[in-house]
Amino acid sequence: MSLHKERFRAGIPVRRINRLDDKPTFQLRYGNWALIAGASHGIGAAFARQLAAQGLNCILVARNETALESLKAEIEAQHGVQALCVKQDLSATDATARLLEATGTRQVGLVIYNAGGDPFISQFLNTDAEQWMKLLRMNTQTVMDISHAFGGRMIERGRGGLLLVGSHAALGGVRKLGMYSATKAFSLNLGESLWAEWKDQGVDVLNLLVSTVDTPTMRETMQRLNIPNAMTMPLPQADDIVCLALQQLRNGPTLIHPEDLAVPAGEASPGSLRRDHVISKSTEAAQFIGND
Ligand SMILES: NC(=O)c1ccc[n+]([C@@H]2O[C@H](COP(=O)([O-])OP(=O)(O)OC[C@H]3O[C@@H](n4cnc5c(N)ncnc54)[C@H](OP(=O)(O)O)[C@@H]3O)[C@@H](O)[C@H]2O)c1
Repeated sequence: MSLHKERFRAGIPVRRINRLDDKPTFQLRYGNWALIAGASHGIGAAFARQLAAQGLNCILVARNETALESLKAEIEAQHGVQALCVKQDLSATDATARLLEATGTRQVGLVIYNAGGDPFISQFLNTDAEQWMKLLRMNTQTVMDISHAFGGRMIERGRGGLLLVGSHAALGGVRKLGMYSATKAFSLNLGESLWAEWKDQGVDVLNLLVSTVDTPTMRETMQRLNIPNAMTMPLPQADDIVCLALQQLRNGPTLIHPEDLAVPAGEASPGSLRRDHVISKSTEAAQFIGND
């Protein structure tokens, strides 16, 4: 086994993630506003903090308004940016219409769709179909509506970015995660297709597939499910993953964490293999469906 793989298996980072330091590029390519859907804690809050540090104003969306207001005060004081809090349930059918209304004339150059964890985690039949429908809407309809509305404006401007936070569960079915896995697969396939359509028009698309991350939701879930060492088990940190994703935003369509980090220089990563697949399938399909 290579040294890289040994280190990876032992849980030792194989590549240091340098802090993000590229204000001019971020403001030019993704300014003036970033919209972070699911910003009140965990990965989404880490995105807001790091994007504010790059000088982007932030639209912070989630249900917990108190947490959003506190994050707004923090990033405005620390980075001199503006923030707007939008209290919105992203599983509502009109979520995107309400976000567009709240956003008004602000120019949104970057959308991070981070909400999407499975609050139920149960076998399929042990949760009501009505409850699954909420997860389905948040992880499919709202992802589609937001990508369409904000992506369309970015394409008109010829610049911007869309980052969809996903999961390894998108790569295949998982026991007790049927609806989560299915909806994350929707987001992954949509994101990869949009990358293929938008990559030459100045709009970046990245699917960030993560395995397990130290977020309040993950810790609470592990505790609720009586997982031993739920609160102390070492897990990858949201800040590191967010920093890596923002560095790789122009290198879509898919970043798989931590696997892509474990690949020695010169070898193809799982993420780069997915890029090859999207390109070759798009070329193959063009023979039958056109290349327009
Ligand atoms: N943590 C992990 O180990 C892990 C692993 C794989 C993938 N992921 C992915 O990473 C992303 C973030 O996960 P997370 O662990 O931080 O948990 P999460 O429960 O998805 O929470 C993330 C954010 O989304 C917001 N949110 C959740 N449901 C919402 C709703 N219906 N409407 C509006 N906002 C909502 C939460 O705030 P409010 O509660 O205030 O609304 C929070 O700000 C998800 O897409 C998840 O699938 C996480």
